[in-house]
Amino acid sequence: MNLMTKRELFLRACRKEPVDRTPVWLMRQAGRYLPSYRALREKAGDFLTLCRTPEMAAEAALQPVRQFGLDAAIVFSDILIPLEAMGVPLSFAEGEGPRLRPVSSAGDIKELRIPDPSESMPFVMMAIENLRSELGGRVPVIGFGGAPFTLACYALEGGSSRDFRKALQFLYSETEAFENLLDRITGALIPFLDAQARAGADAIQLFESWGGLLSARLYRRFALPRIRRIFASLKSAGVPLILYVNGASHLVEEMASSGADVLSFDSRTVLSEARERTSGAFCLQGNLEPSSLFAPREVLEKEISEILAKAPGRGHIFNLGHGVLPGTDPGKVKFLVESVERMTRSAP
Ligand code: CP3
Repeated sequence: MNLMTKRELFLRACRKEPVDRTPVWLMRQAGRYLPSYRALREKAGDFLTLCRTPEMAAEAALQPVRQFGLDAAIVFSDILIPLEAMGVPLSFAEGEGPRLRPVSSAGDIKELRIPDPSESMPFVMMAIENLRSELGGRVPVIGFGGAPFTLACYALEGGSSRDFRKALQFLYSETEAFENLLDRITGALIPFLDAQARAGADAIQLFESWGGLLSARLYRRFALPRIRRIFASLKSAGVPLILYVNGASHLVEEMASSGADVLSFDSRTVLSEARERTSGAFCLQGNLEPSSLFAPREVLEKEISEILAKAPGRGHIFNLGHGVLPGTDPGKVKFLVESVERMTRSAP
Protein backbone atom coordinates (compact mmCIF):
# COMPACT_ATOMS: atom_id res chain seq x y z
CA MET A 1 0.00 0.00 0.00
CA ASN A 2 1.15 3.50 -0.80
CA LEU A 3 1.13 5.63 2.33
CA MET A 4 2.57 8.81 0.81
CA THR A 5 0.03 11.04 -0.89
CA LYS A 6 0.93 12.33 -4.33
CA ARG A 7 1.31 15.76 -2.80
CA GLU A 8 3.86 14.47 -0.27
CA LEU A 9 5.61 12.44 -2.96
CA PHE A 10 5.92 15.49 -5.20
CA LEU A 11 7.04 17.89 -2.45
CA ARG A 12 9.57 15.38 -1.12
CA ALA A 13 11.01 14.94 -4.63
CA CYS A 14 11.32 18.74 -4.96
CA ARG A 15 13.37 18.76 -1.75
CA LYS A 16 15.46 15.74 -2.88
CA GLU A 17 14.18 13.64 0.01
CA PRO A 18 13.71 9.86 -0.32
CA VAL A 19 10.48 8.84 -2.10
CA ASP A 20 8.55 5.60 -2.74
CA ARG A 21 8.85 6.19 -6.48
CA THR A 22 9.57 8.95 -9.00
CA PRO A 23 6.61 11.32 -9.41
CA VAL A 24 5.42 12.11 -12.94
CA TRP A 25 3.41 14.90 -14.54
CA LEU A 26 3.55 16.32 -18.06
CA MET A 27 3.78 19.87 -19.35
CA ARG A 28 0.61 20.62 -21.34
CA GLN A 29 -1.02 17.48 -19.91
CA ALA A 30 -4.41 19.16 -20.40
CA GLY A 31 -5.26 20.04 -23.96
CA ARG A 32 -6.38 19.19 -27.44
CA TYR A 33 -5.00 15.65 -27.58
CA LEU A 34 -7.76 14.71 -25.08
CA PRO A 35 -11.27 14.14 -26.48
CA SER A 36 -12.68 15.22 -23.09
CA TYR A 37 -10.81 18.55 -23.38
CA ARG A 38 -12.14 19.16 -26.87
CA ALA A 39 -15.68 18.58 -25.60
CA LEU A 40 -15.13 21.00 -22.70
CA ARG A 41 -13.70 23.70 -24.95
CA GLU A 42 -16.67 23.27 -27.26
CA LYS A 43 -18.97 23.82 -24.29
CA ALA A 44 -17.00 26.92 -23.24
CA GLY A 45 -17.05 28.27 -26.81
CA ASP A 46 -13.38 29.19 -26.98
CA PHE A 47 -10.06 28.76 -25.22
CA LEU A 48 -9.94 32.10 -23.36
CA THR A 49 -13.49 31.69 -22.03
CA LEU A 50 -12.44 28.27 -20.75
CA CYS A 51 -9.46 29.88 -18.99
CA ARG A 52 -11.68 32.59 -17.47
CA THR A 53 -14.36 30.22 -16.12
CA PRO A 54 -12.91 28.74 -12.92
CA GLU A 55 -15.18 25.67 -12.69
CA MET A 56 -14.40 24.71 -16.29
CA ALA A 57 -10.69 25.53 -15.94
CA ALA A 58 -10.51 23.30 -12.87
CA GLU A 59 -12.26 20.54 -14.80
CA ALA A 60 -9.76 20.86 -17.69
CA ALA A 61 -6.88 20.52 -15.23
CA LEU A 62 -8.49 17.52 -13.50
CA GLN A 63 -9.19 15.52 -16.67
CA PRO A 64 -5.65 14.17 -17.24
CA VAL A 65 -5.10 13.63 -13.51
CA ARG A 66 -8.21 11.45 -13.31
CA GLN A 67 -7.64 9.69 -16.61
CA PHE A 68 -3.97 8.82 -16.15
CA GLY A 69 -3.26 9.02 -12.41
CA LEU A 70 -0.66 11.78 -12.82
CA ASP A 71 1.13 12.96 -9.68
CA ALA A 72 0.38 16.68 -10.08
CA ALA A 73 -2.28 18.95 -11.54
CA ILE A 74 -1.25 22.17 -13.29
CA VAL A 75 -3.79 24.99 -13.18
CA PHE A 76 -5.45 25.48 -16.56
CA SER A 77 -4.51 28.91 -17.88
CA ASP A 78 -1.96 30.38 -20.27
CA ILE A 79 1.33 32.23 -19.91
CA LEU A 80 -0.06 35.08 -22.05
CA ILE A 81 -2.95 35.94 -19.69
CA PRO A 82 -0.89 38.42 -17.59
CA LEU A 83 0.13 40.30 -20.76
CA GLU A 84 -3.54 40.81 -21.48
CA ALA A 85 -4.02 42.07 -17.92
CA MET A 86 -1.15 44.52 -18.53
CA GLY A 87 -3.03 46.00 -21.47
CA VAL A 88 -1.91 43.92 -24.46
CA PRO A 89 -5.09 42.66 -26.19
CA LEU A 90 -4.94 38.88 -26.74
CA SER A 91 -6.93 36.48 -28.88
CA PHE A 92 -6.65 32.90 -30.09
CA ALA A 93 -7.95 32.36 -33.61
CA GLU A 94 -9.25 28.86 -34.30
CA GLY A 95 -6.46 26.61 -35.56
CA GLU A 96 -3.83 29.35 -35.20
CA GLY A 97 -1.59 30.40 -32.37
CA PRO A 98 -2.04 33.41 -30.11
CA ARG A 99 -2.47 36.94 -31.49
CA LEU A 100 -1.43 39.97 -29.46
CA ARG A 101 -1.52 43.65 -30.40
CA PRO A 102 2.25 44.06 -30.67
CA VAL A 103 4.08 46.35 -28.30
CA SER A 104 6.29 48.31 -30.70
CA SER A 105 7.78 51.37 -29.01
CA ALA A 106 9.12 52.75 -25.76
CA GLY A 107 5.85 54.71 -25.52
CA ASP A 108 3.77 51.51 -25.73
CA ILE A 109 5.83 50.04 -22.91
CA LYS A 110 5.29 53.06 -20.66
CA GLU A 111 1.55 52.58 -21.03
CA LEU A 112 1.57 48.98 -19.78
CA ARG A 113 -0.17 48.52 -16.43
CA ILE A 114 1.09 46.60 -13.43
CA PRO A 115 -2.24 44.90 -12.72
CA ASP A 116 -3.68 43.86 -9.38
CA PRO A 117 -4.08 40.11 -9.97
CA SER A 118 -7.15 39.80 -7.76
CA GLU A 119 -8.92 42.37 -9.96
CA SER A 120 -7.65 41.53 -13.41
CA MET A 121 -7.05 37.75 -13.22
CA PRO A 122 -9.16 36.49 -10.27
CA PHE A 123 -10.24 33.45 -12.29
CA VAL A 124 -6.74 31.95 -12.06
CA MET A 125 -6.76 32.01 -8.26
CA MET A 126 -10.36 30.76 -8.23
CA ALA A 127 -9.40 27.86 -10.51
CA ILE A 128 -6.60 26.98 -8.08
CA GLU A 129 -9.01 27.07 -5.12
CA ASN A 130 -11.48 24.88 -7.02
CA LEU A 131 -8.76 22.44 -7.98
CA ARG A 132 -7.50 22.21 -4.42
CA SER A 133 -10.89 21.47 -2.99
CA GLU A 134 -11.55 18.84 -5.68
CA LEU A 135 -8.21 17.17 -4.99
CA GLY A 136 -8.57 17.38 -1.21
CA GLY A 137 -4.88 18.14 -0.71
CA ARG A 138 -3.89 14.68 -1.95
CA VAL A 139 -2.57 15.79 -5.35
CA PRO A 140 -0.32 18.86 -5.60
CA VAL A 141 -1.45 21.85 -7.64
CA ILE A 142 1.14 23.67 -9.75
CA GLY A 143 0.69 27.37 -10.48
CA PHE A 144 2.69 29.00 -13.26
CA GLY A 145 3.74 31.99 -15.30
CA GLY A 146 5.85 32.71 -18.35
CA ALA A 147 9.38 33.95 -17.69
CA PRO A 148 9.81 37.69 -18.47
CA PHE A 149 12.06 37.24 -21.53
CA THR A 150 9.64 34.77 -23.13
CA LEU A 151 6.67 37.05 -22.44
CA ALA A 152 8.57 40.05 -23.84
CA CYS A 153 9.19 38.01 -27.02
CA TYR A 154 5.45 37.38 -27.46
CA ALA A 155 4.51 40.99 -26.66
CA LEU A 156 6.97 42.46 -29.18
CA GLU A 157 6.33 39.87 -31.89
CA GLY A 158 2.53 39.96 -31.52
CA GLY A 159 2.32 36.17 -31.53
CA SER A 160 4.36 33.05 -32.06
CA SER A 161 7.38 32.97 -34.31
CA ARG A 162 10.16 30.60 -35.29
CA ASP A 163 12.92 33.06 -34.47
CA PHE A 164 11.28 36.09 -32.77
CA ARG A 165 13.21 38.38 -35.10
CA LYS A 166 11.18 41.50 -34.28
CA ALA A 167 11.70 40.94 -30.56
CA LEU A 168 15.45 40.46 -30.95
CA GLN A 169 15.71 43.47 -33.24
CA PHE A 170 14.07 45.52 -30.51
CA LEU A 171 16.48 44.09 -27.92
CA TYR A 172 19.43 45.42 -29.94
CA SER A 173 17.98 48.69 -31.25
CA GLU A 174 15.96 49.82 -28.21
CA THR A 175 17.87 48.13 -25.44
CA GLU A 176 16.75 50.46 -22.68
CA ALA A 177 13.08 50.12 -23.62
CA PHE A 178 13.53 46.33 -23.87
CA GLU A 179 14.87 46.30 -20.32
CA ASN A 180 11.95 48.45 -19.19
CA LEU A 181 9.57 45.95 -20.75
CA LEU A 182 11.26 43.08 -18.92
CA ASP A 183 11.04 45.02 -15.65
CA ARG A 184 7.34 45.80 -16.11
CA ILE A 185 6.53 42.19 -16.87
CA THR A 186 8.54 41.16 -13.81
CA GLY A 187 6.60 43.67 -11.71
CA ALA A 188 3.33 42.18 -12.95
CA LEU A 189 4.42 38.57 -12.44
CA ILE A 190 5.54 38.87 -8.81
CA PRO A 191 2.12 39.69 -7.28
CA PHE A 192 0.41 37.31 -9.70
CA LEU A 193 2.57 34.31 -8.80
CA ASP A 194 2.41 35.22 -5.12
CA ALA A 195 -1.39 35.31 -5.34
CA GLN A 196 -1.34 31.83 -6.90
CA ALA A 197 0.74 30.48 -4.02
CA ARG A 198 -1.60 32.14 -1.52
CA ALA A 199 -4.61 30.64 -3.30
CA GLY A 200 -3.12 27.22 -2.61
CA ALA A 201 -0.65 26.37 -5.39
CA ASP A 202 1.84 23.85 -3.94
CA ALA A 203 4.61 24.80 -6.38
CA ILE A 204 5.21 27.53 -8.96
CA GLN A 205 6.78 26.92 -12.37
CA LEU A 206 8.20 29.55 -14.71
CA PHE A 207 8.09 28.63 -18.42
CA GLU A 208 11.01 30.07 -20.38
CA SER A 209 9.98 28.67 -23.76
CA TRP A 210 12.31 30.90 -25.80
CA GLY A 211 15.33 31.20 -23.50
CA GLY A 212 17.37 29.07 -25.89
CA LEU A 213 17.36 31.96 -28.39
CA LEU A 214 19.92 33.78 -26.23
CA SER A 215 23.60 33.09 -25.71
CA ALA A 216 24.61 32.48 -22.09
CA ARG A 217 26.03 36.00 -21.95
CA LEU A 218 22.83 37.64 -23.17
CA TYR A 219 20.79 35.35 -20.96
CA ARG A 220 22.75 36.57 -17.94
CA ARG A 221 22.30 40.17 -18.96
CA PHE A 222 18.60 40.23 -19.87
CA ALA A 223 16.68 37.20 -18.68
CA LEU A 224 18.33 35.89 -15.53
CA PRO A 225 18.25 39.02 -13.29
CA ARG A 226 14.46 39.20 -13.65
CA ILE A 227 13.97 35.53 -12.86
CA ARG A 228 16.14 35.97 -9.79
CA ARG A 229 14.02 38.89 -8.69
CA ILE A 230 10.84 36.85 -9.09
CA PHE A 231 12.17 33.84 -7.22
CA ALA A 232 13.66 35.99 -4.44
CA SER A 233 10.25 37.65 -3.97
CA LEU A 234 8.47 34.29 -3.91
CA LYS A 235 10.78 32.66 -1.37
CA SER A 236 8.58 33.79 1.52
CA ALA A 237 5.59 31.96 -0.03
CA GLY A 238 7.41 28.77 0.98
CA VAL A 239 6.58 26.70 -2.10
CA PRO A 240 9.07 24.96 -4.41
CA LEU A 241 10.06 27.09 -7.40
CA ILE A 242 10.55 25.33 -10.74
CA LEU A 243 12.40 26.85 -13.68
CA TYR A 244 11.85 25.32 -17.12
CA VAL A 245 14.02 26.61 -19.95
CA ASN A 246 13.61 25.22 -23.44
CA GLY A 247 16.90 24.76 -25.35
CA ALA A 248 19.01 25.30 -22.24
CA SER A 249 22.00 22.97 -22.61
CA HIS A 250 24.22 26.07 -22.61
CA LEU A 251 22.34 27.67 -19.69
CA VAL A 252 22.59 25.03 -16.96
CA GLU A 253 24.80 27.16 -14.69
CA GLU A 254 22.62 30.23 -15.26
CA MET A 255 19.53 28.23 -14.28
CA ALA A 256 21.35 26.99 -11.18
CA SER A 257 21.96 30.58 -10.06
CA SER A 258 18.32 31.66 -10.52
CA GLY A 259 17.08 30.82 -7.03
CA ALA A 260 14.98 27.90 -8.34
CA ASP A 261 14.59 24.69 -6.32
CA VAL A 262 13.85 22.49 -9.33
CA LEU A 263 15.47 22.78 -12.77
CA SER A 264 13.47 21.48 -15.73
CA PHE A 265 15.12 20.63 -19.04
CA ASP A 266 14.11 19.71 -22.56
CA SER A 267 15.33 16.46 -24.08
CA ARG A 268 18.53 17.95 -25.51
CA THR A 269 20.13 18.17 -22.06
CA VAL A 270 21.34 14.90 -20.53
CA LEU A 271 20.10 14.91 -16.94
CA SER A 272 23.21 13.18 -15.53
CA GLU A 273 25.34 15.96 -17.07
CA ALA A 274 23.04 18.65 -15.69
CA ARG A 275 23.29 16.99 -12.29
CA GLU A 276 27.08 17.02 -12.49
CA ARG A 277 27.22 20.63 -13.66
CA THR A 278 25.02 21.66 -10.70
CA SER A 279 26.87 19.50 -8.12
CA GLY A 280 23.72 17.53 -7.36
CA ALA A 281 22.23 20.54 -5.58
CA PHE A 282 18.86 20.54 -7.37
CA CYS A 283 15.88 18.36 -8.03
CA LEU A 284 15.81 17.88 -11.82
CA GLN A 285 12.65 17.65 -13.87
CA GLY A 286 12.23 16.11 -17.31
CA ASN A 287 12.97 15.25 -19.98
CA LEU A 288 11.48 12.70 -22.37
CA GLU A 289 11.21 13.95 -25.95
CA PRO A 290 7.45 14.58 -26.52
CA SER A 291 7.50 12.83 -29.92
CA SER A 292 8.55 9.60 -28.14
CA LEU A 293 4.83 9.25 -27.38
CA PHE A 294 4.34 8.58 -31.11
CA ALA A 295 6.63 5.51 -30.89
CA PRO A 296 5.43 1.93 -30.36
CA ARG A 297 5.17 0.92 -26.70
CA GLU A 298 8.42 -1.11 -26.67
CA VAL A 299 10.36 1.87 -28.05
CA LEU A 300 8.65 4.30 -25.68
CA GLU A 301 9.44 2.04 -22.73
CA LYS A 302 13.11 1.97 -23.74
CA GLU A 303 13.19 5.78 -23.98
CA ILE A 304 11.63 6.08 -20.52
CA SER A 305 14.19 3.73 -19.02
CA GLU A 306 16.99 5.76 -20.67
CA ILE A 307 15.75 8.91 -18.91
CA LEU A 308 15.41 7.08 -15.59
CA ALA A 309 18.95 5.72 -15.93
CA LYS A 310 20.27 9.29 -16.30
CA ALA A 311 18.45 10.49 -13.19
CA PRO A 312 18.59 7.67 -10.70
CA GLY A 313 17.10 7.86 -7.23
CA ARG A 314 15.87 10.89 -5.40
CA GLY A 315 15.61 14.44 -6.69
CA HIS A 316 13.92 13.63 -9.98
CA ILE A 317 10.44 14.51 -11.25
CA PHE A 318 9.64 12.72 -14.48
CA ASN A 319 8.23 14.97 -17.21
CA LEU A 320 8.52 15.57 -20.94
CA GLY A 321 11.17 17.88 -22.35
CA HIS A 322 8.37 20.11 -23.70
CA GLY A 323 4.58 19.99 -23.91
CA VAL A 324 2.44 17.03 -24.98
CA LEU A 325 2.01 17.31 -28.76
CA PRO A 326 -1.42 17.52 -30.39
CA GLY A 327 -2.23 14.14 -31.94
CA THR A 328 -0.69 12.19 -29.06
CA ASP A 329 -2.60 8.98 -28.25
CA PRO A 330 -4.05 9.32 -24.71
CA GLY A 331 -3.48 5.55 -24.28
CA LYS A 332 0.26 6.17 -24.63
CA VAL A 333 0.16 8.81 -21.92
CA LYS A 334 -1.48 6.28 -19.61
CA PHE A 335 1.17 3.75 -20.55
CA LEU A 336 3.91 6.31 -19.82
CA VAL A 337 2.56 7.11 -16.34
CA GLU A 338 2.18 3.42 -15.48
CA SER A 339 5.66 2.63 -16.80
CA VAL A 340 7.36 5.31 -14.69
CA GLU A 341 5.50 4.06 -11.64
CA ARG A 342 6.37 0.41 -12.31
CA MET A 343 10.02 1.09 -13.14
CA THR A 344 10.75 3.30 -10.14
CA ARG A 345 8.73 1.78 -7.30
CA SER A 346 11.09 0.33 -4.75
CA ALA A 347 10.46 -3.31 -3.82
CA PRO A 348 8.24 -3.65 -0.70
O1 CP3 B 1 -1.90 21.24 -18.93
C1 CP3 B 1 -1.43 22.36 -19.17
O2 CP3 B 1 -0.20 22.56 -19.17
C2 CP3 B 1 -2.42 23.45 -19.47
C3 CP3 B 1 -2.05 24.82 -19.12
C4 CP3 B 1 -1.16 25.52 -20.14
C5 CP3 B 1 -1.57 26.00 -21.42
N1 CP3 B 1 -0.54 26.71 -21.97
C6 CP3 B 1 -2.89 25.80 -22.05
C7 CP3 B 1 -3.04 25.99 -23.51
C8 CP3 B 1 0.16 25.90 -19.97
C9 CP3 B 1 1.08 25.58 -18.80
C10 CP3 B 1 0.52 26.66 -21.11
C11 CP3 B 1 1.85 27.28 -21.25
C12 CP3 B 1 2.16 27.99 -22.48
N2 CP3 B 1 1.35 28.74 -23.29
C13 CP3 B 1 3.49 28.11 -22.97
C14 CP3 B 1 4.73 27.54 -22.31
C15 CP3 B 1 4.96 26.11 -22.63
C16 CP3 B 1 5.45 25.89 -24.04
O3 CP3 B 1 4.72 25.21 -24.78
O4 CP3 B 1 6.56 26.33 -24.36
C17 CP3 B 1 3.44 28.89 -24.14
C18 CP3 B 1 4.59 29.25 -25.03
C19 CP3 B 1 2.08 29.29 -24.32
C20 CP3 B 1 1.52 30.19 -25.38
C21 CP3 B 1 0.53 29.48 -26.23
N3 CP3 B 1 -0.72 29.08 -25.79
C22 CP3 B 1 0.65 29.10 -27.58
C23 CP3 B 1 1.89 29.35 -28.43
C24 CP3 B 1 -0.54 28.47 -27.94
C25 CP3 B 1 -0.93 27.98 -29.32
C26 CP3 B 1 -0.21 26.75 -29.69
C27 CP3 B 1 -0.70 25.55 -28.93
O5 CP3 B 1 0.15 24.84 -28.37
O6 CP3 B 1 -1.91 25.32 -28.90
C28 CP3 B 1 -1.37 28.43 -26.80
C29 CP3 B 1 -2.73 27.83 -26.71
C30 CP3 B 1 -3.00 26.88 -25.58
N4 CP3 B 1 -2.55 27.02 -24.30
C31 CP3 B 1 -3.81 25.72 -25.66
C32 CP3 B 1 -3.86 25.17 -24.38
C33 CP3 B 1 -4.62 23.95 -23.93
C34 CP3 B 1 -4.55 25.23 -26.88
C35 CP3 B 1 -5.80 26.01 -27.00
C36 CP3 B 1 -6.85 25.26 -27.76
O7 CP3 B 1 -6.73 25.21 -29.00
O8 CP3 B 1 -7.77 24.75 -27.11
